[in-house]
Amino acid sequence: MVAQRTVLVTGAASGIGNASARQLLAAGYQVVAVDLDADAVRASLKTSREELEPISADVSREDDCQAAADRAISRFGKIDAVLHWAAKHSTSYWSDLTAEEFNRILAVNTTGSFLIAQAAARHMLPRKFGAIVLASSTSVIAGTTGGPAGSGGPAYVASKAAIIGLVRSLARALGPSGIRVNGVSPGVTETPMIAAYSAENRAIQQGRVPLGRLAQADEIASVGGFLISDDARYINGETIIVDGGAAFG
Ligand SMILES: NC(=O)c1ccc[n+]([C@@H]2O[C@H](COP(=O)([O-])OP(=O)(O)OC[C@H]3O[C@@H](n4cnc5c(N)ncnc54)[C@H](O)[C@@H]3O)[C@@H](O)[C@H]2O)c1
Repeated sequence: MVAQRTVLVTGAASGIGNASARQLLAAGYQVVAVDLDADAVRASLKTSREELEPISADVSREDDCQAAADRAISRFGKIDAVLHWAAKHSTSYWSDLTAEEFNRILAVNTTGSFLIAQAAARHMLPRKFGAIVLASSTSVIAGTTGGPAGSGGPAYVASKAAIIGLVRSLARALGPSGIRVNGVSPGVTETPMIAAYSAENRAIQQGRVPLGRLAQADEIASVGGFLISDDARYINGETIIVDGGAAFG
């Protein structure tokens, strides 16, 4: 019998991370669900199943990431995979953006991705087995987070561009130890992250998608689920665009 897989999911209280945690629980995985507030994770998942371990952690903090990975080990004995969705949005225009905000966005989105991957990989290494998925964004292609082209969100766009390099670097370093690292680059997705987008902006974004609609959270989460599955066992170092075809439009 194949052992039940354990997956550490970040950003599990909302949007895509929440969809991931639900999908994995429904499929019988053990889920270590990380977000800033474990109570919010519990409330949003509405379950007290044995297979769920909610954890409060700020992914920009090294000790929090280490503690989350250690809790996964003490609870389930292993980490087979990581789906790292936690991130902070920033739409500040380049001329209004402060160094403080820029650094905070990089700390959460980029350094946080590295820290959670590092903490999990340390536990994966002795087993020579694991899969890690990090989240980029098609805002890297557009150069904007949804404002007029190129004007919005330099901090967020830069933080998500860095993920593509981080994925390749970690894939090269960890591949020889049987650990795959990949990325998902979602297009605009219906989650609380885009709640502040204006109706006009939303319509513009939708108009760019050949499929004629924005993504649903579970349509992005399922690609993460595929990347950590054995069906993706020869995919390594890739960041897969999931945007309904908007990027070539
Ligand atoms: N929604 C979109 O349109 C879109 C598009 C492209 C990429 N993405 C990316 O997809 C991922 C998921 O986004 P979403 O739309 O589900 O966002 P969301 O805002 O709905 O959820 C993000 C979650 O991350 C958590 N979080 C924020 N900072 C954290 C921290 N320091 N430590 C721990 N948790 C923290 C939040 O509490 C929240 O629960 C993100 O990486 C985002 O950048 C989203």
